[in-house]
Amino acid sequence: MTPADSVFLRACRRQPVEHTPVWFMRMAGRSLPEYRALREGTPMLTACATPDLIVEITMQPVRRYGVDAAIFFSDIVVPLKAIGIDLDIKPGVGPVVEDPIRSAEALRALRPIEPGDVSYVTEAIESLVKELGDVPLIGFAGAPFTLASYLIEGGPSKNHDHTKAMMYGRPDLWHGLMERLTDITIAYLRIQAEAGASALQLFDSWVGAVAPDDYRTFVQPYTSRIFAGLADLGVPRIHFGVGTGELLGQLGEVGADVVGVDWRVPLDRAAQRVGPGKALQGNLDPAVLLAPWEVVETRARDVLARGRMAEGHVFNLGHGVLPSTDPDQLARLTDLVHESRVVAAESR
Ligand code: CP3
Repeated sequence: MTPADSVFLRACRRQPVEHTPVWFMRMAGRSLPEYRALREGTPMLTACATPDLIVEITMQPVRRYGVDAAIFFSDIVVPLKAIGIDLDIKPGVGPVVEDPIRSAEALRALRPIEPGDVSYVTEAIESLVKELGDVPLIGFAGAPFTLASYLIEGGPSKNHDHTKAMMYGRPDLWHGLMERLTDITIAYLRIQAEAGASALQLFDSWVGAVAPDDYRTFVQPYTSRIFAGLADLGVPRIHFGVGTGELLGQLGEVGADVVGVDWRVPLDRAAQRVGPGKALQGNLDPAVLLAPWEVVETRARDVLARGRMAEGHVFNLGHGVLPSTDPDQLARLTDLVHESRVVAAESR
């Protein structure tokens, strides 16, 4: 076995699998006591620039749960920090940008990224690929809209007011910003694939804030350019956003191989909206894990059953693991998904 034969990559490619593969967004993080212990006293962005810590934190959920893929431990703002944007990740808050980008002059700070800016990423991925053996590693980046929101707002935002003010009011600036973020994102994802990542996920977490017509004008061209710019790498490309029910058709058009679905749209309906030729990833509500196991089991079986309506299915949550999640629930859930082949075989 190599990562290339793994159930995860085969499901991404819509090939037959003996069981549904599973991993969890934010599976490395505060829900794990071993993560909290290792991070003690180390700021998030320092951890993200330290290869030994990246490797160890990435491995923690793989060892604990036996998931079918690892996700590189980092954050979407790491490439922005690497090109010199003054930002930090504040515990319990998220990314905070010192000087929000709201002018043509400020745009210039977004220079192209080069491999030397993120040598710790390359180094950590090379070590991880050796340590993971047959388990594929997912590299990732934030998509331009979601990165733009942090850069323009200066931090997390509920309504994305400044972001939309620029999008509607200063389209010249908006498109200039999106062009630069697109170039950075393509280059950064290529660095990860060339270092050995077996799949790439583009997180457009906050794009659900945008209406379909605006998505088409202000976001879609850039997302399409990113996926086209990765096509020659031959690795599955996954695209995920939250609150994207009305955008699923368009997310199926941007060139991703796999579309991630949040918990709001059942996977059978999502498969219809996304259209043919795509695998789906998702979509158990992360909050279900806070309920007793019997509830998790019923809900997970429903996700698996609906996922069979898609051409390929990678089991995941509809968004990241909540910090208060009991890791034992994720361990049982991983086992349940792996045993699902029995159910699948019996129902045939
Ligand atoms: O999925 C994984 O296990 C890999 C690690 C990962 C992190 N961030 C680690 C992290 C990934 C894939 C991300 C991506 C990311 N970061 C996204 C897209 C995914 C999503 O959740 O929608 C976004 C929007 C961010 C921005 C960000 N960074 C937020 C909202 C936060 C949480 C703030 C908080 O403290 O509640 C962060 C910080 C962050 N990124 C943490 C982790 C483990 C917590 C930092 C800590 O442990 O102190």
